[in-house]
Amino acid sequence: MGAAIQINGISHQFSPKAERVLEELMLDIPAGQSVALIGESGCGKSTLLHMLAGLLLPSEGCVRINTRQVTRPHAEWNMMFQRPGLYPWLNVRQNVALGLQFTGQTANLKARVAEMLELVGLSDKASAAVQDLSGGQQQRVALARSLAVEPELILLDEPFSALDAFTRRNLQLEVSQIAQDKGITLVLVTHDIDEALTMGERVVVMGRNPGTFRHEMNVELPFPRNPMSREFAALRESLMARFRESVHPAGTPAEDAPREPDQTLPPKEAAHV
Ligand SMILES: Nc1ncnc2c1ncn2[C@@H]1O[C@H](COP(=O)(O)OP(=O)(O)OP(=O)(O)O)[C@@H](O)[C@H]1O
Ligand SMILES: [Mg+2]
Repeated sequence: MGAAIQINGISHQFSPKAERVLEELMLDIPAGQSVALIGESGCGKSTLLHMLAGLLLPSEGCVRINTRQVTRPHAEWNMMFQRPGLYPWLNVRQNVALGLQFTGQTANLKARVAEMLELVGLSDKASAAVQDLSGGQQQRVALARSLAVEPELILLDEPFSALDAFTRRNLQLEVSQIAQDKGITLVLVTHDIDEALTMGERVVVMGRNPGTFRHEMNVELPFPRNPMSREFAALRESLMARFRESVHPAGTPAEDAPREPDQTLPPKEAAHV
């Protein structure tokens, strides 16, 4: 069962004299939903994700997961970064086992690790050294390690951006499918609009200086999503327009920013979507 997340009036500044990085963020994510967070570089996506993971406390407001206020990381909430973060002195099997060992879930350890490796298509690499794997395979090991502990929540910070287009697409589809099948709540930070539309049931667009939620869009396409379909193309176009609007908000000159006033929330309302 996935975790329900409540982002409850979060504002943040890294030091008392610093600029506000995030301002009055409000968002409810129901258990099991996949949400993609997109926005310009520096708008505060990673900062917010660290707060969801319990790695950083907001200056104001709080995150609640399953109604409990988040004050520290939990084993059932798993964060994957751009780099897989594997331990080079351990082989693939040992890396996958780590999460289970840390959380004391050592019953049937071998079988569980084998099951996870099978799930991510790496059974034949179980004894390999991680540095002998490709970037995509290393991300799969990190994914297997995350999934082994049956997380309620997976937080992904541009996890596939270093991969080639083909591997990236496969992993996007696989992770979405696993999250759907197991009812895991997924929050994905990405710069890639197609990735957001491939993986998100809902896409939230952030603006910067300070970081706010500007727009959101429900993606009501069945999984697996096909980027070549007409429906996908229409959503891509609409999301692009909203993304441009978040970069050049109404009132600032921007020749390349077509506006869709009927679909665009003013910043104040958007902060409370
Ligand atoms: N530890 C820190 N101390 C001070 N300022 C920070 C710290 N971490 C991030 N910032 C600032 O907060 C803002 C948001 O940073 P953040 O990393 O969350 O952005 P982002 O949206 O994830 O960007 P990107 O898409 O480039 O990864 C930036 O202006 C950054 O300089
Ligand atoms: Mg970031």
